[in-house]
Amino acid sequence: MDSGNLSVQNIDDPVAGVGEVIVDVVAAGVNRADLLQRKGMYPPPPGAPDTMGLEVSGRISALGPQVSGWAVGDEVCALLAGGGYAEQVAVPATQLLPVPLGVDLVSAAGLPEVACTVVSNLFGTADLRPGELLLIHGGSSGIGTHAIQVAHALEVQVAVTARTQAKLARCAALGADILIDYSTQDFTEVITNSGGADVILDIIGAKYLRPNIDSLRTGGRLVIIGMQGGAKAELPIGLLLAKRASVHGTTLRSRPTTGPGGKADIVAQTRRITWPLIDAGKVVPIIDTTFSLDDAEAAHAHLDSGDAIGKVLLTVA
Ligand SMILES: NC(=O)c1ccc[n+]([C@@H]2O[C@H](COP(=O)([O-])OP(=O)(O)OC[C@H]3O[C@@H](n4cnc5c(N)ncnc54)[C@H](OP(=O)(O)O)[C@@H]3O)[C@@H](O)[C@H]2O)c1
Repeated sequence: MDSGNLSVQNIDDPVAGVGEVIVDVVAAGVNRADLLQRKGMYPPPPGAPDTMGLEVSGRISALGPQVSGWAVGDEVCALLAGGGYAEQVAVPATQLLPVPLGVDLVSAAGLPEVACTVVSNLFGTADLRPGELLLIHGGSSGIGTHAIQVAHALEVQVAVTARTQAKLARCAALGADILIDYSTQDFTEVITNSGGADVILDIIGAKYLRPNIDSLRTGGRLVIIGMQGGAKAELPIGLLLAKRASVHGTTLRSRPTTGPGGKADIVAQTRRITWPLIDAGKVVPIIDTTFSLDDAEAAHAHLDSGDAIGKVLLTVA
């Protein structure tokens, strides 16, 4: 990873456009996408701020025109297309979520990106059902630690891969039923011996394409959301046909703000499915480390090290 090129600078205050609010940021989530953006490999979508940051928590300090249902002073968390590493950010009101019951304002910054990614992929794209077997690669990641809890709470059987026994133990405590140390075990063998996966949430991409398809049962759905193991691989189409299986790829950030499959729909779906689970204490934010914004460099290095379990956050105020 590049080093020494993150710095805090003065930029113009954001202005709330139609349907937007200004959030005074208290904390921002650090995501693997930020590490890629920093290397020039994941540019912000058109119209999004250049500043990094895909999620924040904070307080609404101003309302733009045509915003209803929110008030100045409300404590919120928000899904962003960028701009979260800042004191203030403009957000479409449709991308706001209330801070769930029992969650402190700083920890809430670690929820929007994982919660929206998990809901849109598992319950939108893959149509995951209670009783099915879900394989989550990277169980101890920010995405993984959240996905385990949500799936477990909705009575899905959960298998995870991770690199160490310590990480797998945390996954088990969060509700994972089948623990696979990918450094010593063949996940395809373990999953096949368990009857095959109905759904796989994959962050590895090319390197796992073949073993993932081998691990699916008939009618299985593979959803690829990351390319940590490369972007190009050969698709065994015959096997896919024989299993009546499907392969999907999605990103959250590049989705439109509104319209079918847009961020507004996903945030609403997440509020409907996941927020009651958090309010009830069945799903909790898993925060590994919180750094100050001035230490964003160290926060990136920590996430990049692979040692974090759950989310890394930056506090801004
Ligand atoms: N498409 C989307 O909309 C979307 C949205 C959010 C996130 N993502 C992607 O989801 C992934 C996770 O994001 P995050 O922010 O939660 O990242 P993170 O916390 O940094 O986690 C990355 C994880 O990758 C795991 N890993 C690395 N190599 C592995 C392998 N060969 N097999 C299994 N696990 C492996 C690491 O665990 P070990 O130490 O156990 O290896 C680590 O837990 C990233 O690739 C990110 O880009 C995609």
